[in-house]
Amino acid sequence: MIPLAQPVLGEAEERAVLDVLRSGQLSLGPRVPAFERAFAARVGAGWGSAVSSGTAGLHLALRAVGVEDGDEVVTSPFSFVASANAAIYERATPVFADIDPVTLNLDPEAAGAAVTERTKALLPVHIFGYPADMAAFEQIADRHGLGIVEDACEALGAVYGDGIAVGGRGHPAVFGFYANKQLTTGEGGMVTLGSEELKARIDSERNQGRAPDMGWLDHDRLGFNYRLSDIACALGLAQLERLDEMLAARARVAGLYREALAGVEDLGLPCTDGADGGGARRGWFVFVVQLPHRVDRDGTIRALAAEGIQSKPYLPAIHLMGFYRERFGHREGEFPVCEDVAARSVALPFFPEMSDEQVARVGEALRGILGR
Ligand SMILES: Cc1ncc(COP(=O)(O)O)c(C=O)c1O
Repeated sequence: MIPLAQPVLGEAEERAVLDVLRSGQLSLGPRVPAFERAFAARVGAGWGSAVSSGTAGLHLALRAVGVEDGDEVVTSPFSFVASANAAIYERATPVFADIDPVTLNLDPEAAGAAVTERTKALLPVHIFGYPADMAAFEQIADRHGLGIVEDACEALGAVYGDGIAVGGRGHPAVFGFYANKQLTTGEGGMVTLGSEELKARIDSERNQGRAPDMGWLDHDRLGFNYRLSDIACALGLAQLERLDEMLAARARVAGLYREALAGVEDLGLPCTDGADGGGARRGWFVFVVQLPHRVDRDGTIRALAAEGIQSKPYLPAIHLMGFYRERFGHREGEFPVCEDVAARSVALPFFPEMSDEQVARVGEALRGILGR
């Protein structure tokens, strides 16, 4: 079976984790700030706060920009569910707006139209590693006095149109390190940001509301346990060392896919760099195709599995999930671009060490199935 994803882990990671185990300091140790500094430097951010997951990072970042009970957060319905859930954790309402049909990111014009007097923040998602149009979102935020949190969980290695690395703009940007990501710590996340004050707040809230100068059981605000362990941070440091290599390998696999799937009638491929008219560059995370309208997606996934190839629908529209329908009354037809894309999208196997032969096998299988 060709799996959907597979991390690159080697001796460096084994050594790094063993060193932590032997040190006896498994949490709240020196690897946490070391990983934060190295990661922030990598994306050109002033600071980084390591957290236990991308979801935890989104939650703390929304709190940091002031999202509270009764506020609205404008975000994309075409994302992993965590980006919208994070607003609900604070009893705020995620307000969706439709996506751009080319980049599949939140459409700034639609987002601007969704802003009301209750909106507190914008939460664009760099979906599939392609940077959202941040210059446009910054204009909207300035006009209405809103905060911005970027969901960069899928976008390590991406570069905005103006040449800044994703995560380096200053507002909180949240990365995820689950096992299928460009860099993995098993589970984990990082908030990068340009404000020392917000970093202090996030660092405190991830650690039960404790300030750095307080005693062990002293807490001066509500907090959570969203800490990332030293074991995970050591893994992250080792992965950072090979990040360029892994990103280049992913880009290579994407290039092979483009060749293997060129010319398949009505098959939608991921947009190319600069497709938004700027100089944005994708940090390759997944290779998601949109099947032609006439094609049965579940049947295609079953047929690929029969040929030893894993694939999955990716991603479903958030507003049409049961919980969102019931809680917010969402229905089909609200966000037609998102719904059309979500109904046709399939993630194909995609990982740095995928061989030419494996990509060719997937390409031939998909061509064959769609040609039937
Ligand atoms: C767009 C997006 N947002 C948020 C998350 C949540 O990250 P995590 O699984 O680390 O909590 C993910 C990861 O799966 C994601 O892809």
